[in-house]
Amino acid sequence: MALDKEYRKVPGTTIFDSEQSAKGYHLNQFCMSLMKAENRERFLADEDAYMDEWPLTDAQKQALRDRDLNAAMREGGNIYFLAKFGATLGLSFQQMAGSMTGMTEQEYRDMMVGGGRSIAGNRIADVAVPEVERTEAEIAAAQEQDPMLDAVRADAAADDSVGNATITGAVFTSHVPAIGAALDLGKTEEPYWKAVFDGYEFSKAWEQDNLPDVVFLVYNDHATAFDLSLIPTFVLGTGAAYPAADEGYGPRPVPGIEGDPDFAAHVAHSLIRDDFDLTLVNEMEVDHGLTVPMSLMFGQVDTWPVKVIPFHVNVVQYPVPSGERCFKLGKALRKAIESYEKPIKVQIWGTGGMSHQLQGPRAGLINREWDNAFLDRLIEDPEGLSHVPHLEYVEEAGSEGIELVMWFIARGAMSDVEGDGEIEVVHRFYHVPASNTAVGHLILNNKPSAAAAAKE
Ligand code: DHB
Ligand code: FE
Repeated sequence: MALDKEYRKVPGTTIFDSEQSAKGYHLNQFCMSLMKAENRERFLADEDAYMDEWPLTDAQKQALRDRDLNAAMREGGNIYFLAKFGATLGLSFQQMAGSMTGMTEQEYRDMMVGGGRSIAGNRIADVAVPEVERTEAEIAAAQEQDPMLDAVRADAAADDSVGNATITGAVFTSHVPAIGAALDLGKTEEPYWKAVFDGYEFSKAWEQDNLPDVVFLVYNDHATAFDLSLIPTFVLGTGAAYPAADEGYGPRPVPGIEGDPDFAAHVAHSLIRDDFDLTLVNEMEVDHGLTVPMSLMFGQVDTWPVKVIPFHVNVVQYPVPSGERCFKLGKALRKAIESYEKPIKVQIWGTGGMSHQLQGPRAGLINREWDNAFLDRLIEDPEGLSHVPHLEYVEEAGSEGIELVMWFIARGAMSDVEGDGEIEVVHRFYHVPASNTAVGHLILNNKPSAAAAAKE
């Protein structure tokens, strides 16, 4: 089922949602650049030359040349961003708003002085022919004429594929940075590291045989993209690309990550409507939390064979989200993914853990028994396990063992959780140590029941 976007039918109105934002990303960022006086001067001196410095589409450039804010909004512009463009041209907000109405400046001002535009005739059912009773067919025909509904029609036209996205499996793995360094420095055959990489030989082959289109990769940023100036709890990457970060040793020699802005925008809609207040990020660098799992599952490659939607969870500064919250997020994520109307295959990865403590006199803590019980219960009783309080992670699995709460997002998205299918454990691996950490790894196949699959 497609997400309801009835707001797109409100006459003469463009709602700036994550799809519009993706479409207008560079246009809006271009507008932001005009907040600097020197950029305004350069733009006014040679508009085309300045616009050419930005990856704008021809339609976006033409809209700006024509001073056509309606066209700019159809191309993804948002009024608060476009206002920087208008201000550069010396226009007031009233002049900008009025310019989109087909009225003269004086007419618009007079209308506002006279009490503003009336709501009568400006509701969804009133499109084109105000204040008369009309049939559904007449309303549909009138909406067909409304140029502001181009976005709706473009979506319908672009959608020539059949079927919805499916979640094919989940991967859980530690993301120790030293594993990345061992790979990058060619140490995989050293006995210390071979014991770790041997546990992923099966996984690499399985990944090739079960290659998804997109990996929804749950990880935590480790004071790389988000420092203490910004501490969001959940971050969804809606951007097109994510370079590997320099965490102090130089960036890892791994390919950049390709995002999936369209799919991510859909997931954002669905999760935020389900009351998960996400932070959306279009530009960020990704650290070992994301790149090490990629290397473990895909090996050393020139380009990653999948698109990735990065999903960051704050587990650095308390309060961090609970296991229950992450598990519920996983369930909502399944709904989000399965309502995406493209027949893509999606894997969900949960990374971090297992027991480790990177600080203080208790550094180096490992709790094999607790880790293995966690793996058992993650398979058999994830709901019950999700109620384990933070204190238990800290006490039993070390301060950084809290990373394990992220695994519940991937586990909560499996079909068995709500009785819509089964999971199959295809691989399990546990090893101590990698650097300061116990390495845990699990692969689950997701097997929705035939009835659940047909319902999509
Ligand atoms: C280590 C493990 C981590 O998960 C991490 O983020 C950083 C370091 C380690 O064991 O060295
Ligand atoms: Fe970590």
